[in-house]
Amino acid sequence: MGTVRPIIKISPMASSAVCFIGFCSVLLGFVVGIQASHVVYRDLQSIESSPKDHLPYRTGFHFQPAKNWMNDPNGPMVYKHVYHLFYQYNPYGADWGNIVWAHATSTDLVNWIHHKHAIYPSAPFDINGTWSGSATFLKGKKPAILYTGIDPQRRQVQNLAFPKSVSDPYLIEWTKPPQNPLMEPINGINSSSFRDPTTGWQGPDGRWRVIIGNKRGRRGMALLYRSKDFVHWTKAKHPLHSAKDTGMWECPDFYPVSVEGENGVDTSVIGKSVKHVLKNSLDDTKHDYYTIGTYYTEKDRYIPDAGSIDGDAGLRYDYGKFYASKTFFDDVKNQRILWGWINESLSREDYIKQGWSGVQAIPRKIWLDKFRKQLVQWPVVEIEKLRVNGIRLPRTELTGGSVHEISGVTASQADVEVTFELSKMGKIEEIDSNSLMNPQHLCSQKGAAVKGSVGPFGLLVLASKSLEERTAVFFRVFKSQNKYVVLMCSDQSRSSLREEPDKATYGAFLNVDPHREKLSLRSLIDHSIVESFGGKGKACITSRVYPKLAIDGGAHLYVFNNGTSSVTISSFSAWSMKGAQIKYL
Ligand SMILES: *[C@@H]1O[C@H](CO)[C@@H](O)[C@H](O)[C@H]1NC(C)=O
Ligand SMILES: *[C@@H]1O[C@H](CO)[C@@H](O)[C@H](O)[C@H]1NC(C)=O
Ligand SMILES: *[C@@H]1O[C@H](CO)[C@@H](O)[C@H](O)[C@H]1NC(C)=O
Ligand SMILES: *[C@@H]1O[C@H](CO)[C@@H](O)[C@H](O)[C@H]1NC(C)=O
Repeated sequence: MGTVRPIIKISPMASSAVCFIGFCSVLLGFVVGIQASHVVYRDLQSIESSPKDHLPYRTGFHFQPAKNWMNDPNGPMVYKHVYHLFYQYNPYGADWGNIVWAHATSTDLVNWIHHKHAIYPSAPFDINGTWSGSATFLKGKKPAILYTGIDPQRRQVQNLAFPKSVSDPYLIEWTKPPQNPLMEPINGINSSSFRDPTTGWQGPDGRWRVIIGNKRGRRGMALLYRSKDFVHWTKAKHPLHSAKDTGMWECPDFYPVSVEGENGVDTSVIGKSVKHVLKNSLDDTKHDYYTIGTYYTEKDRYIPDAGSIDGDAGLRYDYGKFYASKTFFDDVKNQRILWGWINESLSREDYIKQGWSGVQAIPRKIWLDKFRKQLVQWPVVEIEKLRVNGIRLPRTELTGGSVHEISGVTASQADVEVTFELSKMGKIEEIDSNSLMNPQHLCSQKGAAVKGSVGPFGLLVLASKSLEERTAVFFRVFKSQNKYVVLMCSDQSRSSLREEPDKATYGAFLNVDPHREKLSLRSLIDHSIVESFGGKGKACITSRVYPKLAIDGGAHLYVFNNGTSSVTISSFSAWSMKGAQIKYL
């Protein structure tokens, strides 16, 4: 095991932290005076946590509340140049329950200010719960939120909320119009499987449309509703789309993507310049899958392209932990941004003990790949302003069986970008077509410790000094029927000396021809989370890990090659990451 010394220091990017501090002290003064006004249920106990237990796994630059349970991102939007993120939150403990819409704002998607809860149980139509939903801009750019309420009969119904004052860029106060609930589970709709309204879009007839997640038997469905005024809604005869044997569709998301370039477009855009994406969160498997297809406005139906498959065998935003995601169109920077929830890999008992549960992934810009068969994702560029003390490696040959430590970055909180070149590939492992069915299964069989010919090679992150603990993010190249197959894995099997956490290995196939293109990998490492982007964002894998030794100063970073063929590191940059500034109420 050797150490590769960085030869070039990258000068840190200018930071806007000072101006941010000025901005937020002004804002905080304004927020503090407001008392949280909603009812506290006396019978809901708050769960005690011991701060010592949770410290090593708290993140430095991911979005988290100060404590307690967080799940789905809700109603993301940008309003008067302020980014809003609402999220499902339990104010009373680190387990799911008592859910409200907590609320935070940002001017850069990196530094956040938490506000008082925006939406919480207050009326018969949501007295038993305020669950997920989405934001839409109505005429005159007036924001509106549709969310799922749980009524006294425990039925799921859809409700509307408006900001009390559209002149407040922070949208602190929300009101609920008396027409609620707007959509009820009648005429055979299962009242336990009717939730998560999307952002609305306008059809060529000017009427609004939204879809609601649903199932009938085992058939997952996106129920379509139409409205002239966003208040009175009528269910369409046919769902926008449905697919057999996929189970309940949670948190559907339906939006257009430009056929050319990386710019995002407003959710109502239709026509030849776009394709459409339908994403569903599968309640059965906890995977977010999507299809790419065409929205036929005359019939108000969405049909996935041939080869774009519904269900678990389809494409996924992320092949690790990533659920209940939602996109929004950022008209300030003309990009579509994706938020997704990353849960713990701890037992319920352990996350209750640590006093918090759940992280939001770094928001990702999302666009259609040039071959129009998949999406591409990349962390929003703003996150790069947290980079400090950058290092670069010279072009290096990584011979088979080698491991090198990368010194000079804070390995527990870092951003790493590496590119591999496979100039002289030796004999390549053959795999049969059955192995192509399930990349996660293949990565579990052929983890980092299973030697190969071309690969496994990649990064060992959150690793202890002597590698008793390490999370391996790597590639492996196979041949199948005379085609190259690139496998990307995130192997948690050795990530912690602790026994309890879930250490499942994740995997994805990467649609890159390793003969023509270099293989790139970027990993965002943040104490207990590793978000990896392969092939410039063509495949993403997010992992949660809970090392015992590789925490804070005990964390190290390595490059490794456990194949017999050498590979060349053609570029390597890494940065320590500053913490994001998060202001809690
Ligand atoms: C639902 O609401 C009713 C009426 O407010 C209440 O009596 C009941 O306990 C609630 N049920 C649950 C499970 O919260
Ligand atoms: C309605 O949905 C719930 C929740 O998934 C399920 O338990 C129940 O069996 C469904 N009812 C019918 C009639 O399908
Ligand atoms: C959360 O994590 C656990 C264990 O890692 C997993 O089994 C579960 O399905 C996850 N839930 C969601 C909603 O992602
Ligand atoms: C490489 O493979 C050997 C043999 O299987 C194994 O002992 C070693 O731990 C592997 N290296 C890594 C980084 O997994």
